[in-house]
Amino acid sequence: MRIVLVGPPGAGKGTQAAYLAKNLSIPHISTGDLFRANISQGTDLGKEAKSYMDAGNLVPDSVTIAMAEDRMDQPDAEGGFLLDGFPRNIGQAEALDAYLKGKGVKLDAVLDLEVPEDEVVKRIAGRRICRNDSSHVFHVDYHQPKTEGVCDLCGGDLYQREDDREDTVRKRLEVYHTETEPIIDHYKAQDLVVTIPALGKVDEVTQRAMAALDKA
Ligand code: AP5
Ligand code: ZN
Repeated sequence: MRIVLVGPPGAGKGTQAAYLAKNLSIPHISTGDLFRANISQGTDLGKEAKSYMDAGNLVPDSVTIAMAEDRMDQPDAEGGFLLDGFPRNIGQAEALDAYLKGKGVKLDAVLDLEVPEDEVVKRIAGRRICRNDSSHVFHVDYHQPKTEGVCDLCGGDLYQREDDREDTVRKRLEVYHTETEPIIDHYKAQDLVVTIPALGKVDEVTQRAMAALDKA
């Protein structure tokens, strides 16, 4: 299957993507995680992305689209993938449409995770991620690791993301409303959007998403 996950910062895209990708045996492709991996490896791409990310802005399309396409071209993504955080504006959505058309394949569904803004703020404030792999995500209250400050999955240190500071979160939410939300209408026109209420326990949300995909 080829799936896009969309939703505001802190909606639980990364958390859900990890379970959905495992259940569906497809790779989880997160442009945010790809940027963070580049930043921790000190690559030129990471250096360029960091200033945009720290300010809560989108990294320019020229960089982002090439990186996403390169990842989708890897052999493990041939049979399908779960995109998390891409596309994030109309330009990226159109680029993805063209990319898929060129490969002769289509998206199966766009899952729109719906969460009220006050909940998003609580989720982001308590989020802790792993130094070794930013897809290892925890929460100080809602998803505690077995040992405080230590990743259950790999033993790495947990820390707070730099762009999770309150002023940056406000900016990211604004960018979400102005730049990213319009892609939902873009995909509604293709009859691909399924809205998933994303309040409740992590596994309840996963079940809702799996049920929606069964019908897709
Ligand atoms: P990115 O990393 O994609 O961040 P985001 O979209 O802002 O999303 P988040 O990672 O903040 O949240 P999430 O929805 O994954 O929530 P999570 O599962 O962690 O992007 C970061 C930056 O990179 C962007 O600002 C931009 O600069 C750049 N970028 C990335 N992609 C780009 C693109 N395509 N174009 C241009 N720039 C791009 O959950 C949040 C917390 O809640 C966690 O602590 C989790 O444990 C907890 N939680 C999850 N589910 C539940 C639940 N059901 N109940 C209680 N707690 C929960
Ligand atoms: Zn880890």
